[in-house]
Parts: sequence; C-alpha cells; structure tokens
Amino acid sequence: MLNWREADFTSYTSTVALSAEEEEQRQKEAMQTARKLVAELGGQLGHTPTCCVVTFGCQMNARDSEKILGILMDAGYQESDSEEADFVIYNTCTVRDNANQRVYGRLGHLNSMKKKNPQKRIALCGCMIQEPDVIEKIRTSYRFVDLLFGTHNLYKFPELLCTMLQNDRMVIDVWKATDAIVEDLPVVRKYPFKSGVNIMFGCDNYCTYCIVPYVRGRERSRSSKEILQEVERLAKDGVVEVMLLGQNVNSYGNGIEGEISFPELLKEVEQVEGIRRIRFMTSHPKDLSDELIAVMRDSEKICRHLHLPVQSGSSEVLRKMNRRYTREQYLELVAKLRREIPDLSITTDIIVGFPGETKEDLEQTITLVKEVGYDNAFTFIYSPRTGTPAASYEKTMSDDEISQGFERLLTVVQDKARESVSRLYGRVEEALVEEVNSHDAALVTGRLSNNVLVHFPGDASMIGKFYPVKLTENRGFYYIGEMV
Ligand code: 5AD
Ligand code: SF4
Repeated sequence: MLNWREADFTSYTSTVALSAEEEEQRQKEAMQTARKLVAELGGQLGHTPTCCVVTFGCQMNARDSEKILGILMDAGYQESDSEEADFVIYNTCTVRDNANQRVYGRLGHLNSMKKKNPQKRIALCGCMIQEPDVIEKIRTSYRFVDLLFGTHNLYKFPELLCTMLQNDRMVIDVWKATDAIVEDLPVVRKYPFKSGVNIMFGCDNYCTYCIVPYVRGRERSRSSKEILQEVERLAKDGVVEVMLLGQNVNSYGNGIEGEISFPELLKEVEQVEGIRRIRFMTSHPKDLSDELIAVMRDSEKICRHLHLPVQSGSSEVLRKMNRRYTREQYLELVAKLRREIPDLSITTDIIVGFPGETKEDLEQTITLVKEVGYDNAFTFIYSPRTGTPAASYEKTMSDDEISQGFERLLTVVQDKARESVSRLYGRVEEALVEEVNSHDAALVTGRLSNNVLVHFPGDASMIGKFYPVKLTENRGFYYIGEMV
C-alpha cells in the first residue's frame, strides 16, 4: 500500500490491493477520522466548514458529484453554492479541449480566493485528471491545488480527504484502471424526486475521436442485483424517476456470465413500485436491439425519449470515426423506431470538422438532420484529444469552413427542432415539476416523458409531483403551458 503522507507524488497503479468489502470497511473507518478532522477545522475556522462541488461535463460526472457531496456532508461539511467555500472540488471533463480550458481559467480565480483564506482547500477530480500531461501541468503550474484524484478511485475519497486535511503538500492519487466497483457510498441527490443510477462504467467502443475509453477505462457492468436494490432504495426514499447511466447502455451485461441484458434490466426496474418514469443514457446505434425497441414500446414507465448520437451523416466519416454503422443503417434504425414507437422523441450528438470530413460530408449530415427530425441535437466542433487515433489524422476543412458549416448546421437543427416539437402543440401531457423557473418565480419548470421542458404557472410546493399540462406556446426546444 502506498503512503501519500510521505511526499507529493502520483500513485499510478492498475490494481486494487484490497477486496471491495475490505475497501468499504477501510473507507468507513476513514469517514470517522474525516468527521474528527472536519470538526477540528470548524473549531479553527469558527464556523462549520463549507464545501462547493462544481461539475463539468456529463450525467456520469453529475452522479459522481452527488457521491462526492454525500461523503463531504457525512464528514460534516456544509454545502455551499459559492466557490468562496472552505473546500472547492472541480469534477472535471476532458471530452473537448474547451472543457479543460474552462477549468484552467477558473483555477486562477480560486487561487486569489485562497490567498485571502489560507485554510481554503482545492481538489480536482474526474476525467481530466486521468491525463498524465494534465497532472504534470497542475503539479508544476498550479501548486496551490491540494488534492488530485481520478475517475477510478472516487470511492477512496474519505481516505483522500483525511490525507489532504492532515497534509500541506499536494496529494495525488490517480489510477490507470480498476476492476473494482465499490458499492454503498453515501450520496446527496441534487433532486429528491429523481436520480441517476450507474449501471455500467467505462467504454470499449474506441470511437477514434473520443478520449472516454482512456479516462474512464474498460467497460464494466454493475450486477443487476445491486442496481435493483439501489432503485428500490431510491423508490422508498421518494424517487419517482430514474435515469440509468452508462456510456453505452445497450451493451449492459456483456462479458458477465449469467447477467441479464439491458432490455431485461429495464423490465426488472419497471417492476419497482413507486418508480413512475425510467430514462436511460446513452445508446450507441450499433447495439440498439429489436428487443429493446419492443420493451420500450410496451412499457408504461420507460420515457418516450431516446438519445441516439449519430455524430455524422456521412458513411465515410462514420467509418473513420469507427462508429460501426452507416448512414443508411442509422436511418433504417430511426425508421424502425418511428414505426414501433410513433410518439418517440429522438435527440442526438453531432461533431463538425472531424479530420477527413469534407464540405460534401457535412452536407450529408445536414440532410440527415432534416430527414430524422430531431427534437434536439447537441452540435460540437471537433477537438483533437491527445492519445486518440484521430488526433494524428489530417485536417481537411479550414477553420472558417468548419465554423461556417457549424453555423449552418445549427440553424437547420434549430429549425427542424421547432418543427418537430410543434407536433405537441395544444396537447395535454403529464409534466414532472423539477424546479421553480430561474427567470420567472411565478412559473415552474416541468419535464415531459419525451424530455421536452414546459414552463407553467405554479410554485415550489409542486416540485417532485406530476401535473397534466396543456402545451400552449412552442418556443423551439421548450413550451409554455398551463395546468388543466
Ligand atoms: N471533439 C468534439 N466532440 C466530441 N465528442 C466526443 N469527443 C469529441 C471530440 N474529440 C462529443 C460526441 C459525444 C459527445 C458526448 O461529445 O458527440 O457524443
Ligand atoms: Fe466515446 Fe464512442 Fe464510447 Fe461514446 S461510444 S464514450 S463516443 S468511445
């Protein structure tokens, strides 16, 4: 076992020394120490130490942040929205370079706060920290950071927290990989009525542009028994909507002998009393089975929404991206989905400017967007990621061509989304109220089964409950409505 107390160093290991049960026990003991240390810190500060967890990136990170916050609250910290807090944790994303740049930009600001509050602690965790050159940069140029840890050892956070609180040097603990899935971490959910549930970690698809397989590791599925127990616990705790999370949920259970498939898992989750809505993310088009479509079609609880990233409308670009489907196969899949589940809302991700992409390829993406009629599409400019195959591919379009193409695509996406979402106009749909509208306190924001948001008159007492809402005004991606 490595001892971090000795020095500022990186433990870059690929195995877990203890069994999952032993680790759980070890972290429980660390939690007790953490509580004492946080109480002592509170005595020095003259107030309950505050913490602020800032999440960059995807739903997986959002769920990890809930675990981080759960541990911190358990240790005695008080949650704060402000980065003036005594302990600030950035849970980072590295899927595109602008996410990294945002972190570096904000770190400077944290440093000036730390100069005024020397007891302030700063931690960085998540995907960016899995990159060796990032660790090197933080070690050399951001020496005021107190703790760095990666995506594989989040469950050791109680222990890392103790080490940080007892130590003035930078603590770094980043693992290359892990097989371990440690259950039973305390969690503080952002919303009391809905929750993400990890069903698998990592990704084995190796799309040539994507850094996720390198920073999140090989695909590992949780046992269905653990997942169902978690969903049951959540339901007992008042959760009505769950989002099953994985980079590619359609390959759930692959490689685990005797484990059920993703459609079977959905059927099991559907049996859990109290759960009224089931969502999942993300589906890789190459693995979306007929069985899954049938389970969705026949389900009362599975939401009428599918996020189906296409990335490009050109078969040639898809080949270079290693997506393992063609434009035609994707369109056939969409046609099948529309036939079987006519009210399904489909959303997608698209990359513009992938090396090798030509203006003609981009044209094909635009025609595909028109043909599919997405309810929403997230469009990204390609960002080369160190260590991925595409980082060494030759660029084809100029920056100007890429940004012009991107703008054109965005206009088509927005026009088509408005047109597609207009099918809902005048309908009465059930909305789950999520929050009071941030711009207008007289309105609440509700989510429909198909993931479209609706703002309608209401108040905070409605949060977490379902209401029938008439959709009266189409604002593009969302609606204004009224309760009926
Ligand atoms: N550049 C731009 N976009 C990317 N994505 C993943 N990697 C990159 C990259 N290197 C996008 C994909 C993916 C989404 C989460 O982020 O569209 O579906
Ligand atoms: Fe990245 Fe492809 Fe895996 Fe999605 S499926 S996380 S894009 S490698």
